[in-house]
Amino acid sequence: KKQYRIAVIPGDGIGKEVMPEGLRVIEAAAKKHGVAVQFDHFDFASYDYYEKHGEMMPADWKDKIGKHDAIYFGAVGWPAKIPDHISLWGSLIKFRREFDQYVNLRPVRLMPGVPSPLANRKPGDIDFWVVRENTEGEYSSVGGRMFPDTDREFVTQQTVMTRTGVDRILKFAFELAQSRPKKHLTSATKSNGISITMPYWDERVEAMARKYPKVKWDKYHIDILTANFVLHPDWFDVVVGSNLFGDILSDLGPACTGTIGIAPSGNINPEGDFPSVFEPVHGSAPDIAGQGIANPIGMIWSGAMMLEHLGEKQVADAIVGAIERTLAERTLRTRDLGGNADTTACGKAVAEMVD
Ligand code: NAD
Ligand code: IPM
Ligand code: MN
Repeated sequence: KKQYRIAVIPGDGIGKEVMPEGLRVIEAAAKKHGVAVQFDHFDFASYDYYEKHGEMMPADWKDKIGKHDAIYFGAVGWPAKIPDHISLWGSLIKFRREFDQYVNLRPVRLMPGVPSPLANRKPGDIDFWVVRENTEGEYSSVGGRMFPDTDREFVTQQTVMTRTGVDRILKFAFELAQSRPKKHLTSATKSNGISITMPYWDERVEAMARKYPKVKWDKYHIDILTANFVLHPDWFDVVVGSNLFGDILSDLGPACTGTIGIAPSGNINPEGDFPSVFEPVHGSAPDIAGQGIANPIGMIWSGAMMLEHLGEKQVADAIVGAIERTLAERTLRTRDLGGNADTTACGKAVAEMVD
């Protein structure tokens, strides 16, 4: 019998509170469907680990989690104690870059019964995927600080777009669009202002589009695209963007569906050379950490994405169905969605509804 080995990393803040609910639901669904899942727990990629060891992860972190079938990750960051760029570049961004997880796949879906902050929107009106480039672009380590602490001080950080890097994310996005009923792809650009890298991005989109004649595609500058997410979310099907644009769009999209607390993501290495990381879109939420009120759905839905990635689509669908039935009941929702359930009550409800 097949047994999946999952590396479990809760991280910081509400990551530690939503992770048990994610595990609870995966366990319930796996049991119902006769799938064997083994969880190996790791305490690194967290402030607690940093405080003890002076680094975010052990030197052999890749040996510890690189052979697992997937990595299930909560959230990292504790800015009161450690600057975000240190904790994030020492953990999550390392996973993405060193495991070559060049796709960050983030679904945006208005769930039945959940009120959207946008007027008169019903499920089906908001149902698209953000496909975010996840290893290069604006998140680059090329640059630096010169003449520190003098009047001549300056900083630069180069956007890096490689042909391989741009083409592979575009290919993934076009393939996804082609597999969907609407076959529609939107590219996020800013080639009017960012005059070298963004025209290059547009050029590669046009070249890739020629290989996918069945896909209807368009492009918007990122400024008006954010406006259209709010005004016309029904226009979108697959939205592809650079690392930074994809980051911004993948908080805005879920906000239009009621809360970022339900949004899941997969940091995917499509070739399977390395494990992929599944994590909620949200962060460690220091403002509500420790209160037991965080929405666990983003963590749980990420678990469904992980199971689908592993080839267990039935189990994944069962979890998504249970999420929908849970969110449809106001009393089972957490406070960010106008309910009064706490993290555990919401997680237990989903686990019980899995069929
Ligand atoms: P955040 O996502 O942690 O929180 C933003 C707001 O949304 C907060 O008001 C928070 O309470 C709320 N929120 C987030 N998740 C929620 C949930 N599940 N249920 C209910 N409310 C929720 O973003 P931030 O405040 O910008 O960042 C906090 C820390 O998390 C920083 O250290 C940041 O770098 C880090 N971060 C990590 C990740 C990640 O691990 N992938 C993602 C984003 C931010
Ligand atoms: C995300 C987060 C990260 C990102 C941060 C924490 C570095 O916002 O996963 O969306 O920008 O990628
Ligand atoms: Mn983000």
